[in-house]
Amino acid sequence: MTRLTNCILNKDPSCVPVWFMRQAGRYLPEFRKIRLQNKNFIELCLNSDLSSQITLQPLKRFNLDAAIIFSDILMVPFGLGQGVTFKNKKGPHLSPFNLNNFLSNTEDNFIKKLNPVYEAIRTTRTNLNTNKSLISFIGAPWTLLVYMFGLKTENNQINISKLKTFEPEIKTVLEKINKYLCTHIINQIKSGADLVQIFDSWAGLIPKEKLFDYCYEPNRKIVEFCKENKIPVICFPKGIKENYLKFAEKVNPDCLSLDYDLDPVWAKEKLSKFCLQGGMHPKILFKEENEIFQEVDKYLNIFKDHPYIFNLGHGLLPETDPDTLQKVVERVNTFK
Ligand code: CP3
Repeated sequence: MTRLTNCILNKDPSCVPVWFMRQAGRYLPEFRKIRLQNKNFIELCLNSDLSSQITLQPLKRFNLDAAIIFSDILMVPFGLGQGVTFKNKKGPHLSPFNLNNFLSNTEDNFIKKLNPVYEAIRTTRTNLNTNKSLISFIGAPWTLLVYMFGLKTENNQINISKLKTFEPEIKTVLEKINKYLCTHIINQIKSGADLVQIFDSWAGLIPKEKLFDYCYEPNRKIVEFCKENKIPVICFPKGIKENYLKFAEKVNPDCLSLDYDLDPVWAKEKLSKFCLQGGMHPKILFKEENEIFQEVDKYLNIFKDHPYIFNLGHGLLPETDPDTLQKVVERVNTFK
């Protein structure tokens, strides 16, 4: 057991493990240096040695409880044959979705394409102290669909008419993705990861009447698969506000990651049965030191005596100062 799995599985409130979403990323100069020499992001994710090196970068600097494998949720659509590119400042772009191509995928081919990710996990596990967890992850089916179907408008709203045109295919596609996601999880675990986080980053865009079909059910099935295989699982249904409660009841994950929209006092009260993670707004890290510590302490005090993992309400932003993060990690680790 690591401090992280002890918190998640034994619901032990006596220590607060800490790690950060996007802890391996552009806010670190050592990452930017590698990135500059590797312009193709997908190829970088497929370079097992570099991916493992990047995964370990934040742990060289900070006393974190976990490494999260450097990869991307969009490696799954890539493994299923869709073209994925990252244009500077414009976010990811996927080639048009084709149902026949999608349905003609085979498990063997999928695993072959993603094998470098599994290799990166094996390398990382060998080089990571056994008292640290190695986190694997997937994007939830809906969040992947948002990218695969190109459902988002420029201002991050859902293109409803486009969503309607895909409606006849959605059920089939969601179920098929689900199967491949379970394959991806089990392969990451077999390679040495000790738990999985499911990112439903765009759950907040789902029309209310579709939350059950597009969010709760797909997440529930994956969580069920994880439990059958004794894989600790953290869910992050970002942006669904008070529906976190319904999500928690229906999906029943081992741990819930809170987004920055949620009131932590509300979360502690309503989600009291669950191990909880995160919540603090990533932009707090741009403030003065005393304001940052005040907010960090706020979360630590609210979740005192509750199984809680320190993290943020979304990923670290590229403008974050690594020295600030250093101080936050120390603050969490010395909090009494
Ligand atoms: O957390 C980690 O340190 C592990 C690595 C990780 C990445 N992406 C690396 C990455 C993880 C866990 C992800 C998950 C991911 N990817 C999500 C879910 C989490 C979230 O942020 O909501 C999503 C929606 C994606 C899709 C994605 N990948 C986007 C929208 C972008 C562009 C974002 C941007 O800031 O430009 C990426 C690219 C990406 N994935 C980067 C990194 C470090 C930046 C790539 C670069 O260097 O240009």
